[in-house]
Amino acid sequence: MKKTPKIHAKEFATRREQLMRMIGEESIAIVPSAGLKIRNRDAEYGFRQNSDFLYLTGFNEPDAVAVFIPEREAGEYILFCRERDPKAEQWVGRRAGLEGAQKTFGADDAFPIIDIDDILPGLLEDRAAIYYNMGEDTEFDTQVMAWVNVLKKKVRSGVHAPQEFVSLPLILHDMRLYKSPAELRVMRHSARTAVAAHTRAMQVCKPDMMEYQLEAEYLHEFRKNGMETSYTSIVGGGENACILHYVENDQMLKDGDLVLIDAGAEYLGYASDITRTFPVNGTYSEEQAKLYQIVLNAQKAAIAKAKPGNCWNDMHDAAVFTLVAGLADVGILEGEIDTLIEEKAYFPFYMHKTGHWLGLDVHDVGDYKVDDHWRLLEPGMTLTVEPGLYVSPSDDVDKKWWNIGIRIEDDVLITKQGCEVLTKDLVKEVDDIEALMATN
Ligand code: GLY
Ligand code: MN
Ligand code: MN
Repeated sequence: MKKTPKIHAKEFATRREQLMRMIGEESIAIVPSAGLKIRNRDAEYGFRQNSDFLYLTGFNEPDAVAVFIPEREAGEYILFCRERDPKAEQWVGRRAGLEGAQKTFGADDAFPIIDIDDILPGLLEDRAAIYYNMGEDTEFDTQVMAWVNVLKKKVRSGVHAPQEFVSLPLILHDMRLYKSPAELRVMRHSARTAVAAHTRAMQVCKPDMMEYQLEAEYLHEFRKNGMETSYTSIVGGGENACILHYVENDQMLKDGDLVLIDAGAEYLGYASDITRTFPVNGTYSEEQAKLYQIVLNAQKAAIAKAKPGNCWNDMHDAAVFTLVAGLADVGILEGEIDTLIEEKAYFPFYMHKTGHWLGLDVHDVGDYKVDDHWRLLEPGMTLTVEPGLYVSPSDDVDKKWWNIGIRIEDDVLITKQGCEVLTKDLVKEVDDIEALMATN
């Protein structure tokens, strides 16, 4: 088995140090883990850690709270978590416990999560500001207020309660936007698996398969590599491809239709996110090929803008321009390109943006605008580029185009020189897709 990339304890420690440097020695930051969620009756969903918590701790258990207290002599990083409990662990799985929290996960100190209400108010004493993600979880908001109120009641004994609440995402999400070399190795690994998975789906696709059978093909590749889906994936044949978030995946794939697969893998929490649209029978019809080529040209035009110094929206503008020019060329739109763009005449066919940040969350964190200006692209940022065209039946459009839905999505890293397409090994030219599909 080849060695798979990891993010080492040292990197998590560096992230925590950076966070503490940025919040300053008068402050404290509190980050809760995700909890288990009931799926039905007493069965739970598979556990997925909160991305902020995972980024700072690497600790993949529920019922935990990480606390960061810069310059605290008795220890800056405190982890509240579940204690070891052999009986419980035999039923629900292993726990790191307090010792593991310190030895494996680098906490300076660790306490049982059940004691947090007794201990946390003391840690807030004489700190001026609390950084946390306000409003993410109302129950946690209430808990934080209760801890602060414990201190307020002690004011006559000379204790100061924090007076300021500051948004932790303001700092943390900017850190998460720039990927480290280790994160990029992990993301490349996720991308490689997603590429293999889409390739496999293309190779086995044939008319009269069910959409879920194609889904089973890429899921097999994900699980074979120890990964999961990074979001609820889409297999949409024919008109289903025009529904942006179609997830039923339960219809038959028809001869002569296109099928759109939007699926990505998650590895150590990091997402890939790929879309390809290909002919169920292995050969694009004339109309399908024409619209496909327009979307592909738009995607390439957008990727050409993915470089340092350009701003976020340059990619979208390039995609829109190419899509509109293409739609005018085939007669779906009529008029001057600039006017069609200005009047958003393309909106019935292209109603979403051209991409999003990608990382621990598939729609990753990070601002798209800074001070009301589109953000400049910088090395280390990772994002998707995913233009599409969706032609729903309408009297305004010749019937021959109806129900063609196409999206092409790749994952891109901004580099010093320009960009690297992390998913470039997945075919996307018409000829290459047809040639690959002919090999099954
Ligand atoms: N798969 C979600 C997206 O493409 O944004
Ligand atoms: Mn996407
Ligand atoms: Mn996608």
